[in-house]
Amino acid sequence: MESRSSIWALGWLLFFTLVVGENGVVANSSNSKRDGSRDCKFPAIFNFGDSHSDTGTTSAAFDSLGAPRGMSFPGLPGRACDGRLIIDFIAEDLGLPYLNSPEDTIGSNFTHGANFATGSTMINPDVVYGSTVPFHLDVQVSQFFQLKSHAIAQHEQLRNHRNNPPIQNNLPEPKVFSEALYTIDIGSNDKLDNLSISKNMNQFSNSVQRLLRGGAKYLWIHNIGPASCTPSGHNTCKNEPGCVLDQNGCDIKSSKSIQEFNKQLKDTVYKLRAQYPDAVITYVDIYSAKHRLIVNAKNYGFTNPFKFCCGNEFHTCGAVDFNGNLLVNACNDPQKYISWDGLHYSQAANQIVAKFVVNGSFSDPPVPVAKACYKQY
Ligand SMILES: *[C@@H]1O[C@H](CO)[C@@H](O)[C@H](O)[C@H]1NC(C)=O
Ligand SMILES: *[C@@H]1O[C@H](CO)[C@@H](O)[C@H](O)[C@H]1NC(C)=O
Ligand SMILES: *[C@@H]1O[C@H](CO)[C@@H](O)[C@H](O)[C@H]1NC(C)=O
Ligand SMILES: *[C@@H]1O[C@H](CO)[C@@H](O)[C@H](O)[C@H]1NC(C)=O
Repeated sequence: MESRSSIWALGWLLFFTLVVGENGVVANSSNSKRDGSRDCKFPAIFNFGDSHSDTGTTSAAFDSLGAPRGMSFPGLPGRACDGRLIIDFIAEDLGLPYLNSPEDTIGSNFTHGANFATGSTMINPDVVYGSTVPFHLDVQVSQFFQLKSHAIAQHEQLRNHRNNPPIQNNLPEPKVFSEALYTIDIGSNDKLDNLSISKNMNQFSNSVQRLLRGGAKYLWIHNIGPASCTPSGHNTCKNEPGCVLDQNGCDIKSSKSIQEFNKQLKDTVYKLRAQYPDAVITYVDIYSAKHRLIVNAKNYGFTNPFKFCCGNEFHTCGAVDFNGNLLVNACNDPQKYISWDGLHYSQAANQIVAKFVVNGSFSDPPVPVAKACYKQY
């Protein structure tokens, strides 16, 4: 009996995932918003990515990302940062609450979106190189469809018990899925040789197409940042024979691979636009926004961009001994550093990069995020 009912439950879940979830809503151009004068009023954000936009998945599902992370913005833990990430500033700009990870079930409310981004993850589903985390992009998309089918079931249940609801909703209304903004920031952990890039573009396109066929209409896609210009990229290069740094201290070879990834990502976005004319897909040049900040660090009030606030050459930020005591403290003034931990950006840096990108000045086409439902290409 027990096992039979769980088979039924699994059957229904599959039905929802395959039939209602993925193909339930068909994009329709006459529903596309054309009037560019008003903000889109996105009711929700669904985000996919790696540690650059992970707002709690790693912390809930694997290792808790505790202090000193979050030191500049208490009450918002679980991020590889002293405070808010670019995705948090995007949520602020759109007037939406900060996003929770569906892995983080305690006190989370997903009515205004969910964040599937997970630290260390990649586009590439085949290898788990340098990573023990299996939540690559396509798995995150599957997690999204699970949430979507649960949301549809929850609201069905609420409708059937209108006068005496047995539950309080914490999932989006079904119509939210076609009105929401879908944001993606992934690829930083992927291998960047030419063969891997072209394989990953196919995979990226397949995953994004699952979202589009499932009813996503408004997409905001970040390219990958200049890891070659972070303290980690700069120092790794300096320790290798044959390292060549450019006049800004960036690893030239690594910058080239990242730019090749971004070029192909942009091509992929253009192809998706042609294949899905009813969707509105914005490509955001995070690379140039971060690069501008790094090469003008002083003008923006930051110290040497190759110094960082938390961690040192012996211990990574947040590393603890057997008694749980921190092995390395953070600096007292994280707002002076572009880099929080050598790899990830500080809240102060994220705030400036977010300011650069939300008004559309780094986007193709140049639409602000609040107007990213209007097709301008
Ligand atoms: C598109 O949406 C409009 C308005 O909601 C509707 O009248 C029309 O039938 C839809 N077209 C298709 C092809 O679904
Ligand atoms: C989640 O948030 C929505 C909208 O703010 C609210 O109506 C709902 O009651 C909340 N659910 C829970 C379980 O707190
Ligand atoms: C990778 O592709 C780019 C652009 O197509 C090309 O310029 C470059 O030479 C390629 N690199 C290798 C190692 O094949
Ligand atoms: C966008 O914001 C940046 C940073 O605040 C500013 O320098 C730029 O001029 C703005 N661009 C537009 C088109 O408003």
